[in-house]
Amino acid sequence: MPSFSASAPGKIILFGEHAVVYGQPAIAVPVHQIQVKAIITPNPRGLPGSIQITAPMINLEADLSELPAEHPIAAIIDGVLKALKIPRAPACKLRITSTIPVAAGLGSGAAVSIAVTRALSAFLGQPLPLEKVSSIAFEVEKIHHGTPSGIDNTVITYSMPIYFKRGKPIETIKLKAPFTLVIADTGISSPTAVAVGDLHQAWQAKPNLYDLLFESVGDIVDSAKQAIENGHVEELGPLMDLNHELLVKMKVSSPQLDHLVRIAVACGALGAKLSGAGRGGNMIALVKESKANSVAQALLNAGATRTITTTVRI
Ligand code: PMV
Repeated sequence: MPSFSASAPGKIILFGEHAVVYGQPAIAVPVHQIQVKAIITPNPRGLPGSIQITAPMINLEADLSELPAEHPIAAIIDGVLKALKIPRAPACKLRITSTIPVAAGLGSGAAVSIAVTRALSAFLGQPLPLEKVSSIAFEVEKIHHGTPSGIDNTVITYSMPIYFKRGKPIETIKLKAPFTLVIADTGISSPTAVAVGDLHQAWQAKPNLYDLLFESVGDIVDSAKQAIENGHVEELGPLMDLNHELLVKMKVSSPQLDHLVRIAVACGALGAKLSGAGRGGNMIALVKESKANSVAQALLNAGATRTITTTVRI
């Protein structure tokens, strides 16, 4: 039995996070500079069903049998075996490596699920179709997130810019012109489930107010989709600023995120916003390519722990 490997990119949400949980659309793009890689090799000396797992980014070195069923890696393996109706895998070793920061809104959890699903199903001789890969990863996202919208597993599985609406068929977005983003990390890890849970409570207390905020985000997302499809990239900047203001009103921003957003705009970005769950994690700034380095440097000087510059291409 040969070895199999698969990789999955990181992702960033351009517009619409949080409101997407409430049925509004959102736009996300893959970030190819960061990725998860899963490699499966047969282990002729192991017992059937034994999967020796190594995942240095989460300090994991264990056999599958030692992990609780709700561990995301155990859950993804279980999801793949169930989908393929295979009671236990032949003994093997699974090594997962990642350059995607954890709990930073860059899709690390979904990317692990997707890389493992693709590598394991190929190893078992039955590579799963993308739709199934995405739905297995979605089940595991529920462990990470509580009530995920499904945007992370969708954009990472299809590895293309997407316009996502819960329960609707996936729509990829055709870019007419490339655009450049600087992604900056606050260095503060922020579990998505906490921000999503707090917002849920706030929405329950004042549903009318929050529904209006979510609808306004939905309008921004639709305008952004048009701008991307028409190649009017510069229009995305002000739309990002507006989306950030609405996220501030939803109380999912933080002083650090607001600071980095202000710095980016003051240093020449066309617009900026938090991205993902908020509270910590990352913000994004839309920049002219010529300004990318100076905006990234300004963000590092202002306290960002890391920046990634990515050009979203046609
Ligand atoms: O995984 P993150 O941190 O990019 O956040 C996900 C985006 C939310 O809209 C906040 C939650 C969701 O499931 O869509």
